[in-house]
Amino acid sequence: MTRFSLTAAVLIGLGHRVLGALEQCGPAQYDPTNYVCWENQFLCPVTAGEGLSYCNGACYSKFMYTCNNNILSLLPPAESAFTLTVSNPALPQLDGKPVTAQGLRLWLGGETKSYCPSVVDPNCPPGNVTSIVAGGFGGAGMNTMVPGGQQVYLTPDWNVGYTQAHSAYMPFGSTSTGFAAYQGGGFINLNGNGWGWVACPPRASGPAGPEWTLYGRNSTNAESLNYCTPINLKVTPYPGQGAAAWQYT
Ligand SMILES: *[C@@H]1O[C@H](CO)[C@@H](O)[C@H](O)[C@H]1NC(C)=O
Ligand SMILES: *[C@@H]1O[C@H](CO)[C@@H](O)[C@H](O)[C@H]1NC(C)=O
Repeated sequence: MTRFSLTAAVLIGLGHRVLGALEQCGPAQYDPTNYVCWENQFLCPVTAGEGLSYCNGACYSKFMYTCNNNILSLLPPAESAFTLTVSNPALPQLDGKPVTAQGLRLWLGGETKSYCPSVVDPNCPPGNVTSIVAGGFGGAGMNTMVPGGQQVYLTPDWNVGYTQAHSAYMPFGSTSTGFAAYQGGGFINLNGNGWGWVACPPRASGPAGPEWTLYGRNSTNAESLNYCTPINLKVTPYPGQGAAAWQYT
């Protein structure tokens, strides 16, 4: 199996990045912060803190695929409502934190903000958990009761938002398809050739809010989002019955 090489920590001249001790994968040496070794011969990269799994010649993410008898297949789609949590063990301040709805945007950590009109009251859902439902044709909506629903979309700069109750308005250049949610897996942005999600720390030029926020990354915006960290979004079935809120605000 893998053993530690005696080459201990290697310092790279640029910046102050310190590589961990290199390990052996068969004849090859590798840095275990960037790769995982399978069967002492196959290296798969670590992306968004996930060491990719290995299936018969291919590296794959458990947020999207499964390997049975050496055959890679997509996980089944999530058919019921779900909640999302951040996954990236290399980003401990967010790993495991919920994705929350507030101010018509999705945030990482923080609190869910919702509203229920008093006439509807005694039957209001608690509204303190952010839940999403995958729609047909790659769409997704908030798991709400309000007539017309609240659609999930990428804003023109690929921040993740949802429509206001009683309105289908999305700014010109928004994207409301190309999402996939997998049972036992993740919520995936298939737009822009699968560059995945990033968590971006709060900053003045970003959307107004105290929390880290969620962007979809692609070949065009990767450079401008280089202050952000790649993450996966883990799908967990929503434990309640019916809608999770009347409307998210
Ligand atoms: C939401 O509210 C329910 C019912 O009041 C409570 O049991 C649950 O712990 C709350 N969940 C969160 C995440 O606040
Ligand atoms: C990538 O996202 C940006 C917004 O940040 C968008 O303007 C651009 O069209 C997207 N590029 C691709 C290839 O989808």
